[in-house]
Amino acid sequence: MKGIILAGGSGSRLYPVSQAYSKQLIMIYDKPMIYYPFSVLMLAGIKEALIISNEETLPYYRKLFGDGSQLGMSISYALQEEPRGIADAFLVGENFIGKDSVTLILGDNIFYGKLDFIRKAIQGNEGGTVFGYYVNDPERYGVVEFNASGKVISIEEKPKRPKSNYAVVGLYIYDRTVSEKARSLQPSARGELEITDLNNLYLKEKRLKVELFGRGIAWLDTGTPRSLLEAATFIGAVENRQGLKIACIEEIAYMMNFIDRKMFKEIIDSMPLSSYREYLNKIYRDKQLYNRYQD
Ligand code: DAU
Repeated sequence: MKGIILAGGSGSRLYPVSQAYSKQLIMIYDKPMIYYPFSVLMLAGIKEALIISNEETLPYYRKLFGDGSQLGMSISYALQEEPRGIADAFLVGENFIGKDSVTLILGDNIFYGKLDFIRKAIQGNEGGTVFGYYVNDPERYGVVEFNASGKVISIEEKPKRPKSNYAVVGLYIYDRTVSEKARSLQPSARGELEITDLNNLYLKEKRLKVELFGRGIAWLDTGTPRSLLEAATFIGAVENRQGLKIACIEEIAYMMNFIDRKMFKEIIDSMPLSSYREYLNKIYRDKQLYNRYQD
């Protein structure tokens, strides 16, 4: 299973900061936004990932993640010249995907909670798997429509009159036919290759599974200045209560055994003095925490 993080786009809803840099680099509490979706791929056990973005932003991601070897991963990068739509990720990433299946996560989606179900969904995926989350404002998202017996009959992109409160989150699992399907899509009225159209192709073939997130999972919005503040406050509250970080990629690499103890120490020692480094030293010393994670 390969992973793609789509982290381009114009981010114009966050103007004026969007003139200068990309949305996914904005700090959410104590780390860049992209760390959160990046860590979701890691927690799903994905070691080979492609980051797709625009020309201005790709160098920043390269600075943050390099070739990924320090995390026991392999990270590559690809350019999306124009924001041609989310499904375009499977055309830009076609060579990277090759004959594998792939999990796509949007660079601005933050998930928190017990995420083991993603791993299980990857293992059980046949055609495509997407996830629905109950929200207050479904009209802002792809929305799942169910029939009377609870079967999914369609997904609509940003409908004026949503047929349910279940929004499709920015995490998608597909089989190896995804690039071929993406190629058959036509741009929508807003000129994009829509992920919702791709999902409907799988649905038509009866090869789309829609799993619903339980209420114990937080899917945080990052679309507006206010929701960014709320996301940062949420992450800060949980981190401070526990003294443990969310989406700390070096810690996850160590806990998931992508790297050994020696490599973990090496990355820590290469960091500038900071609370982030102090935190990782604390994790390094806490063998009990590590042992518990292995159970
Ligand atoms: O967040 C989940 C929602 O994401 C889904 O419910 C919708 O079905 C899906 O269309 C998408 O809706 P958005 O309107 O939120 O998508 P947006 O255009 O904001 O793009 C999401 C992220 O992907 C954003 O961080 C920018 C990036 N992106 C987007 C496009 C269209 C790219 O890197 N390239 C692109 O071409």
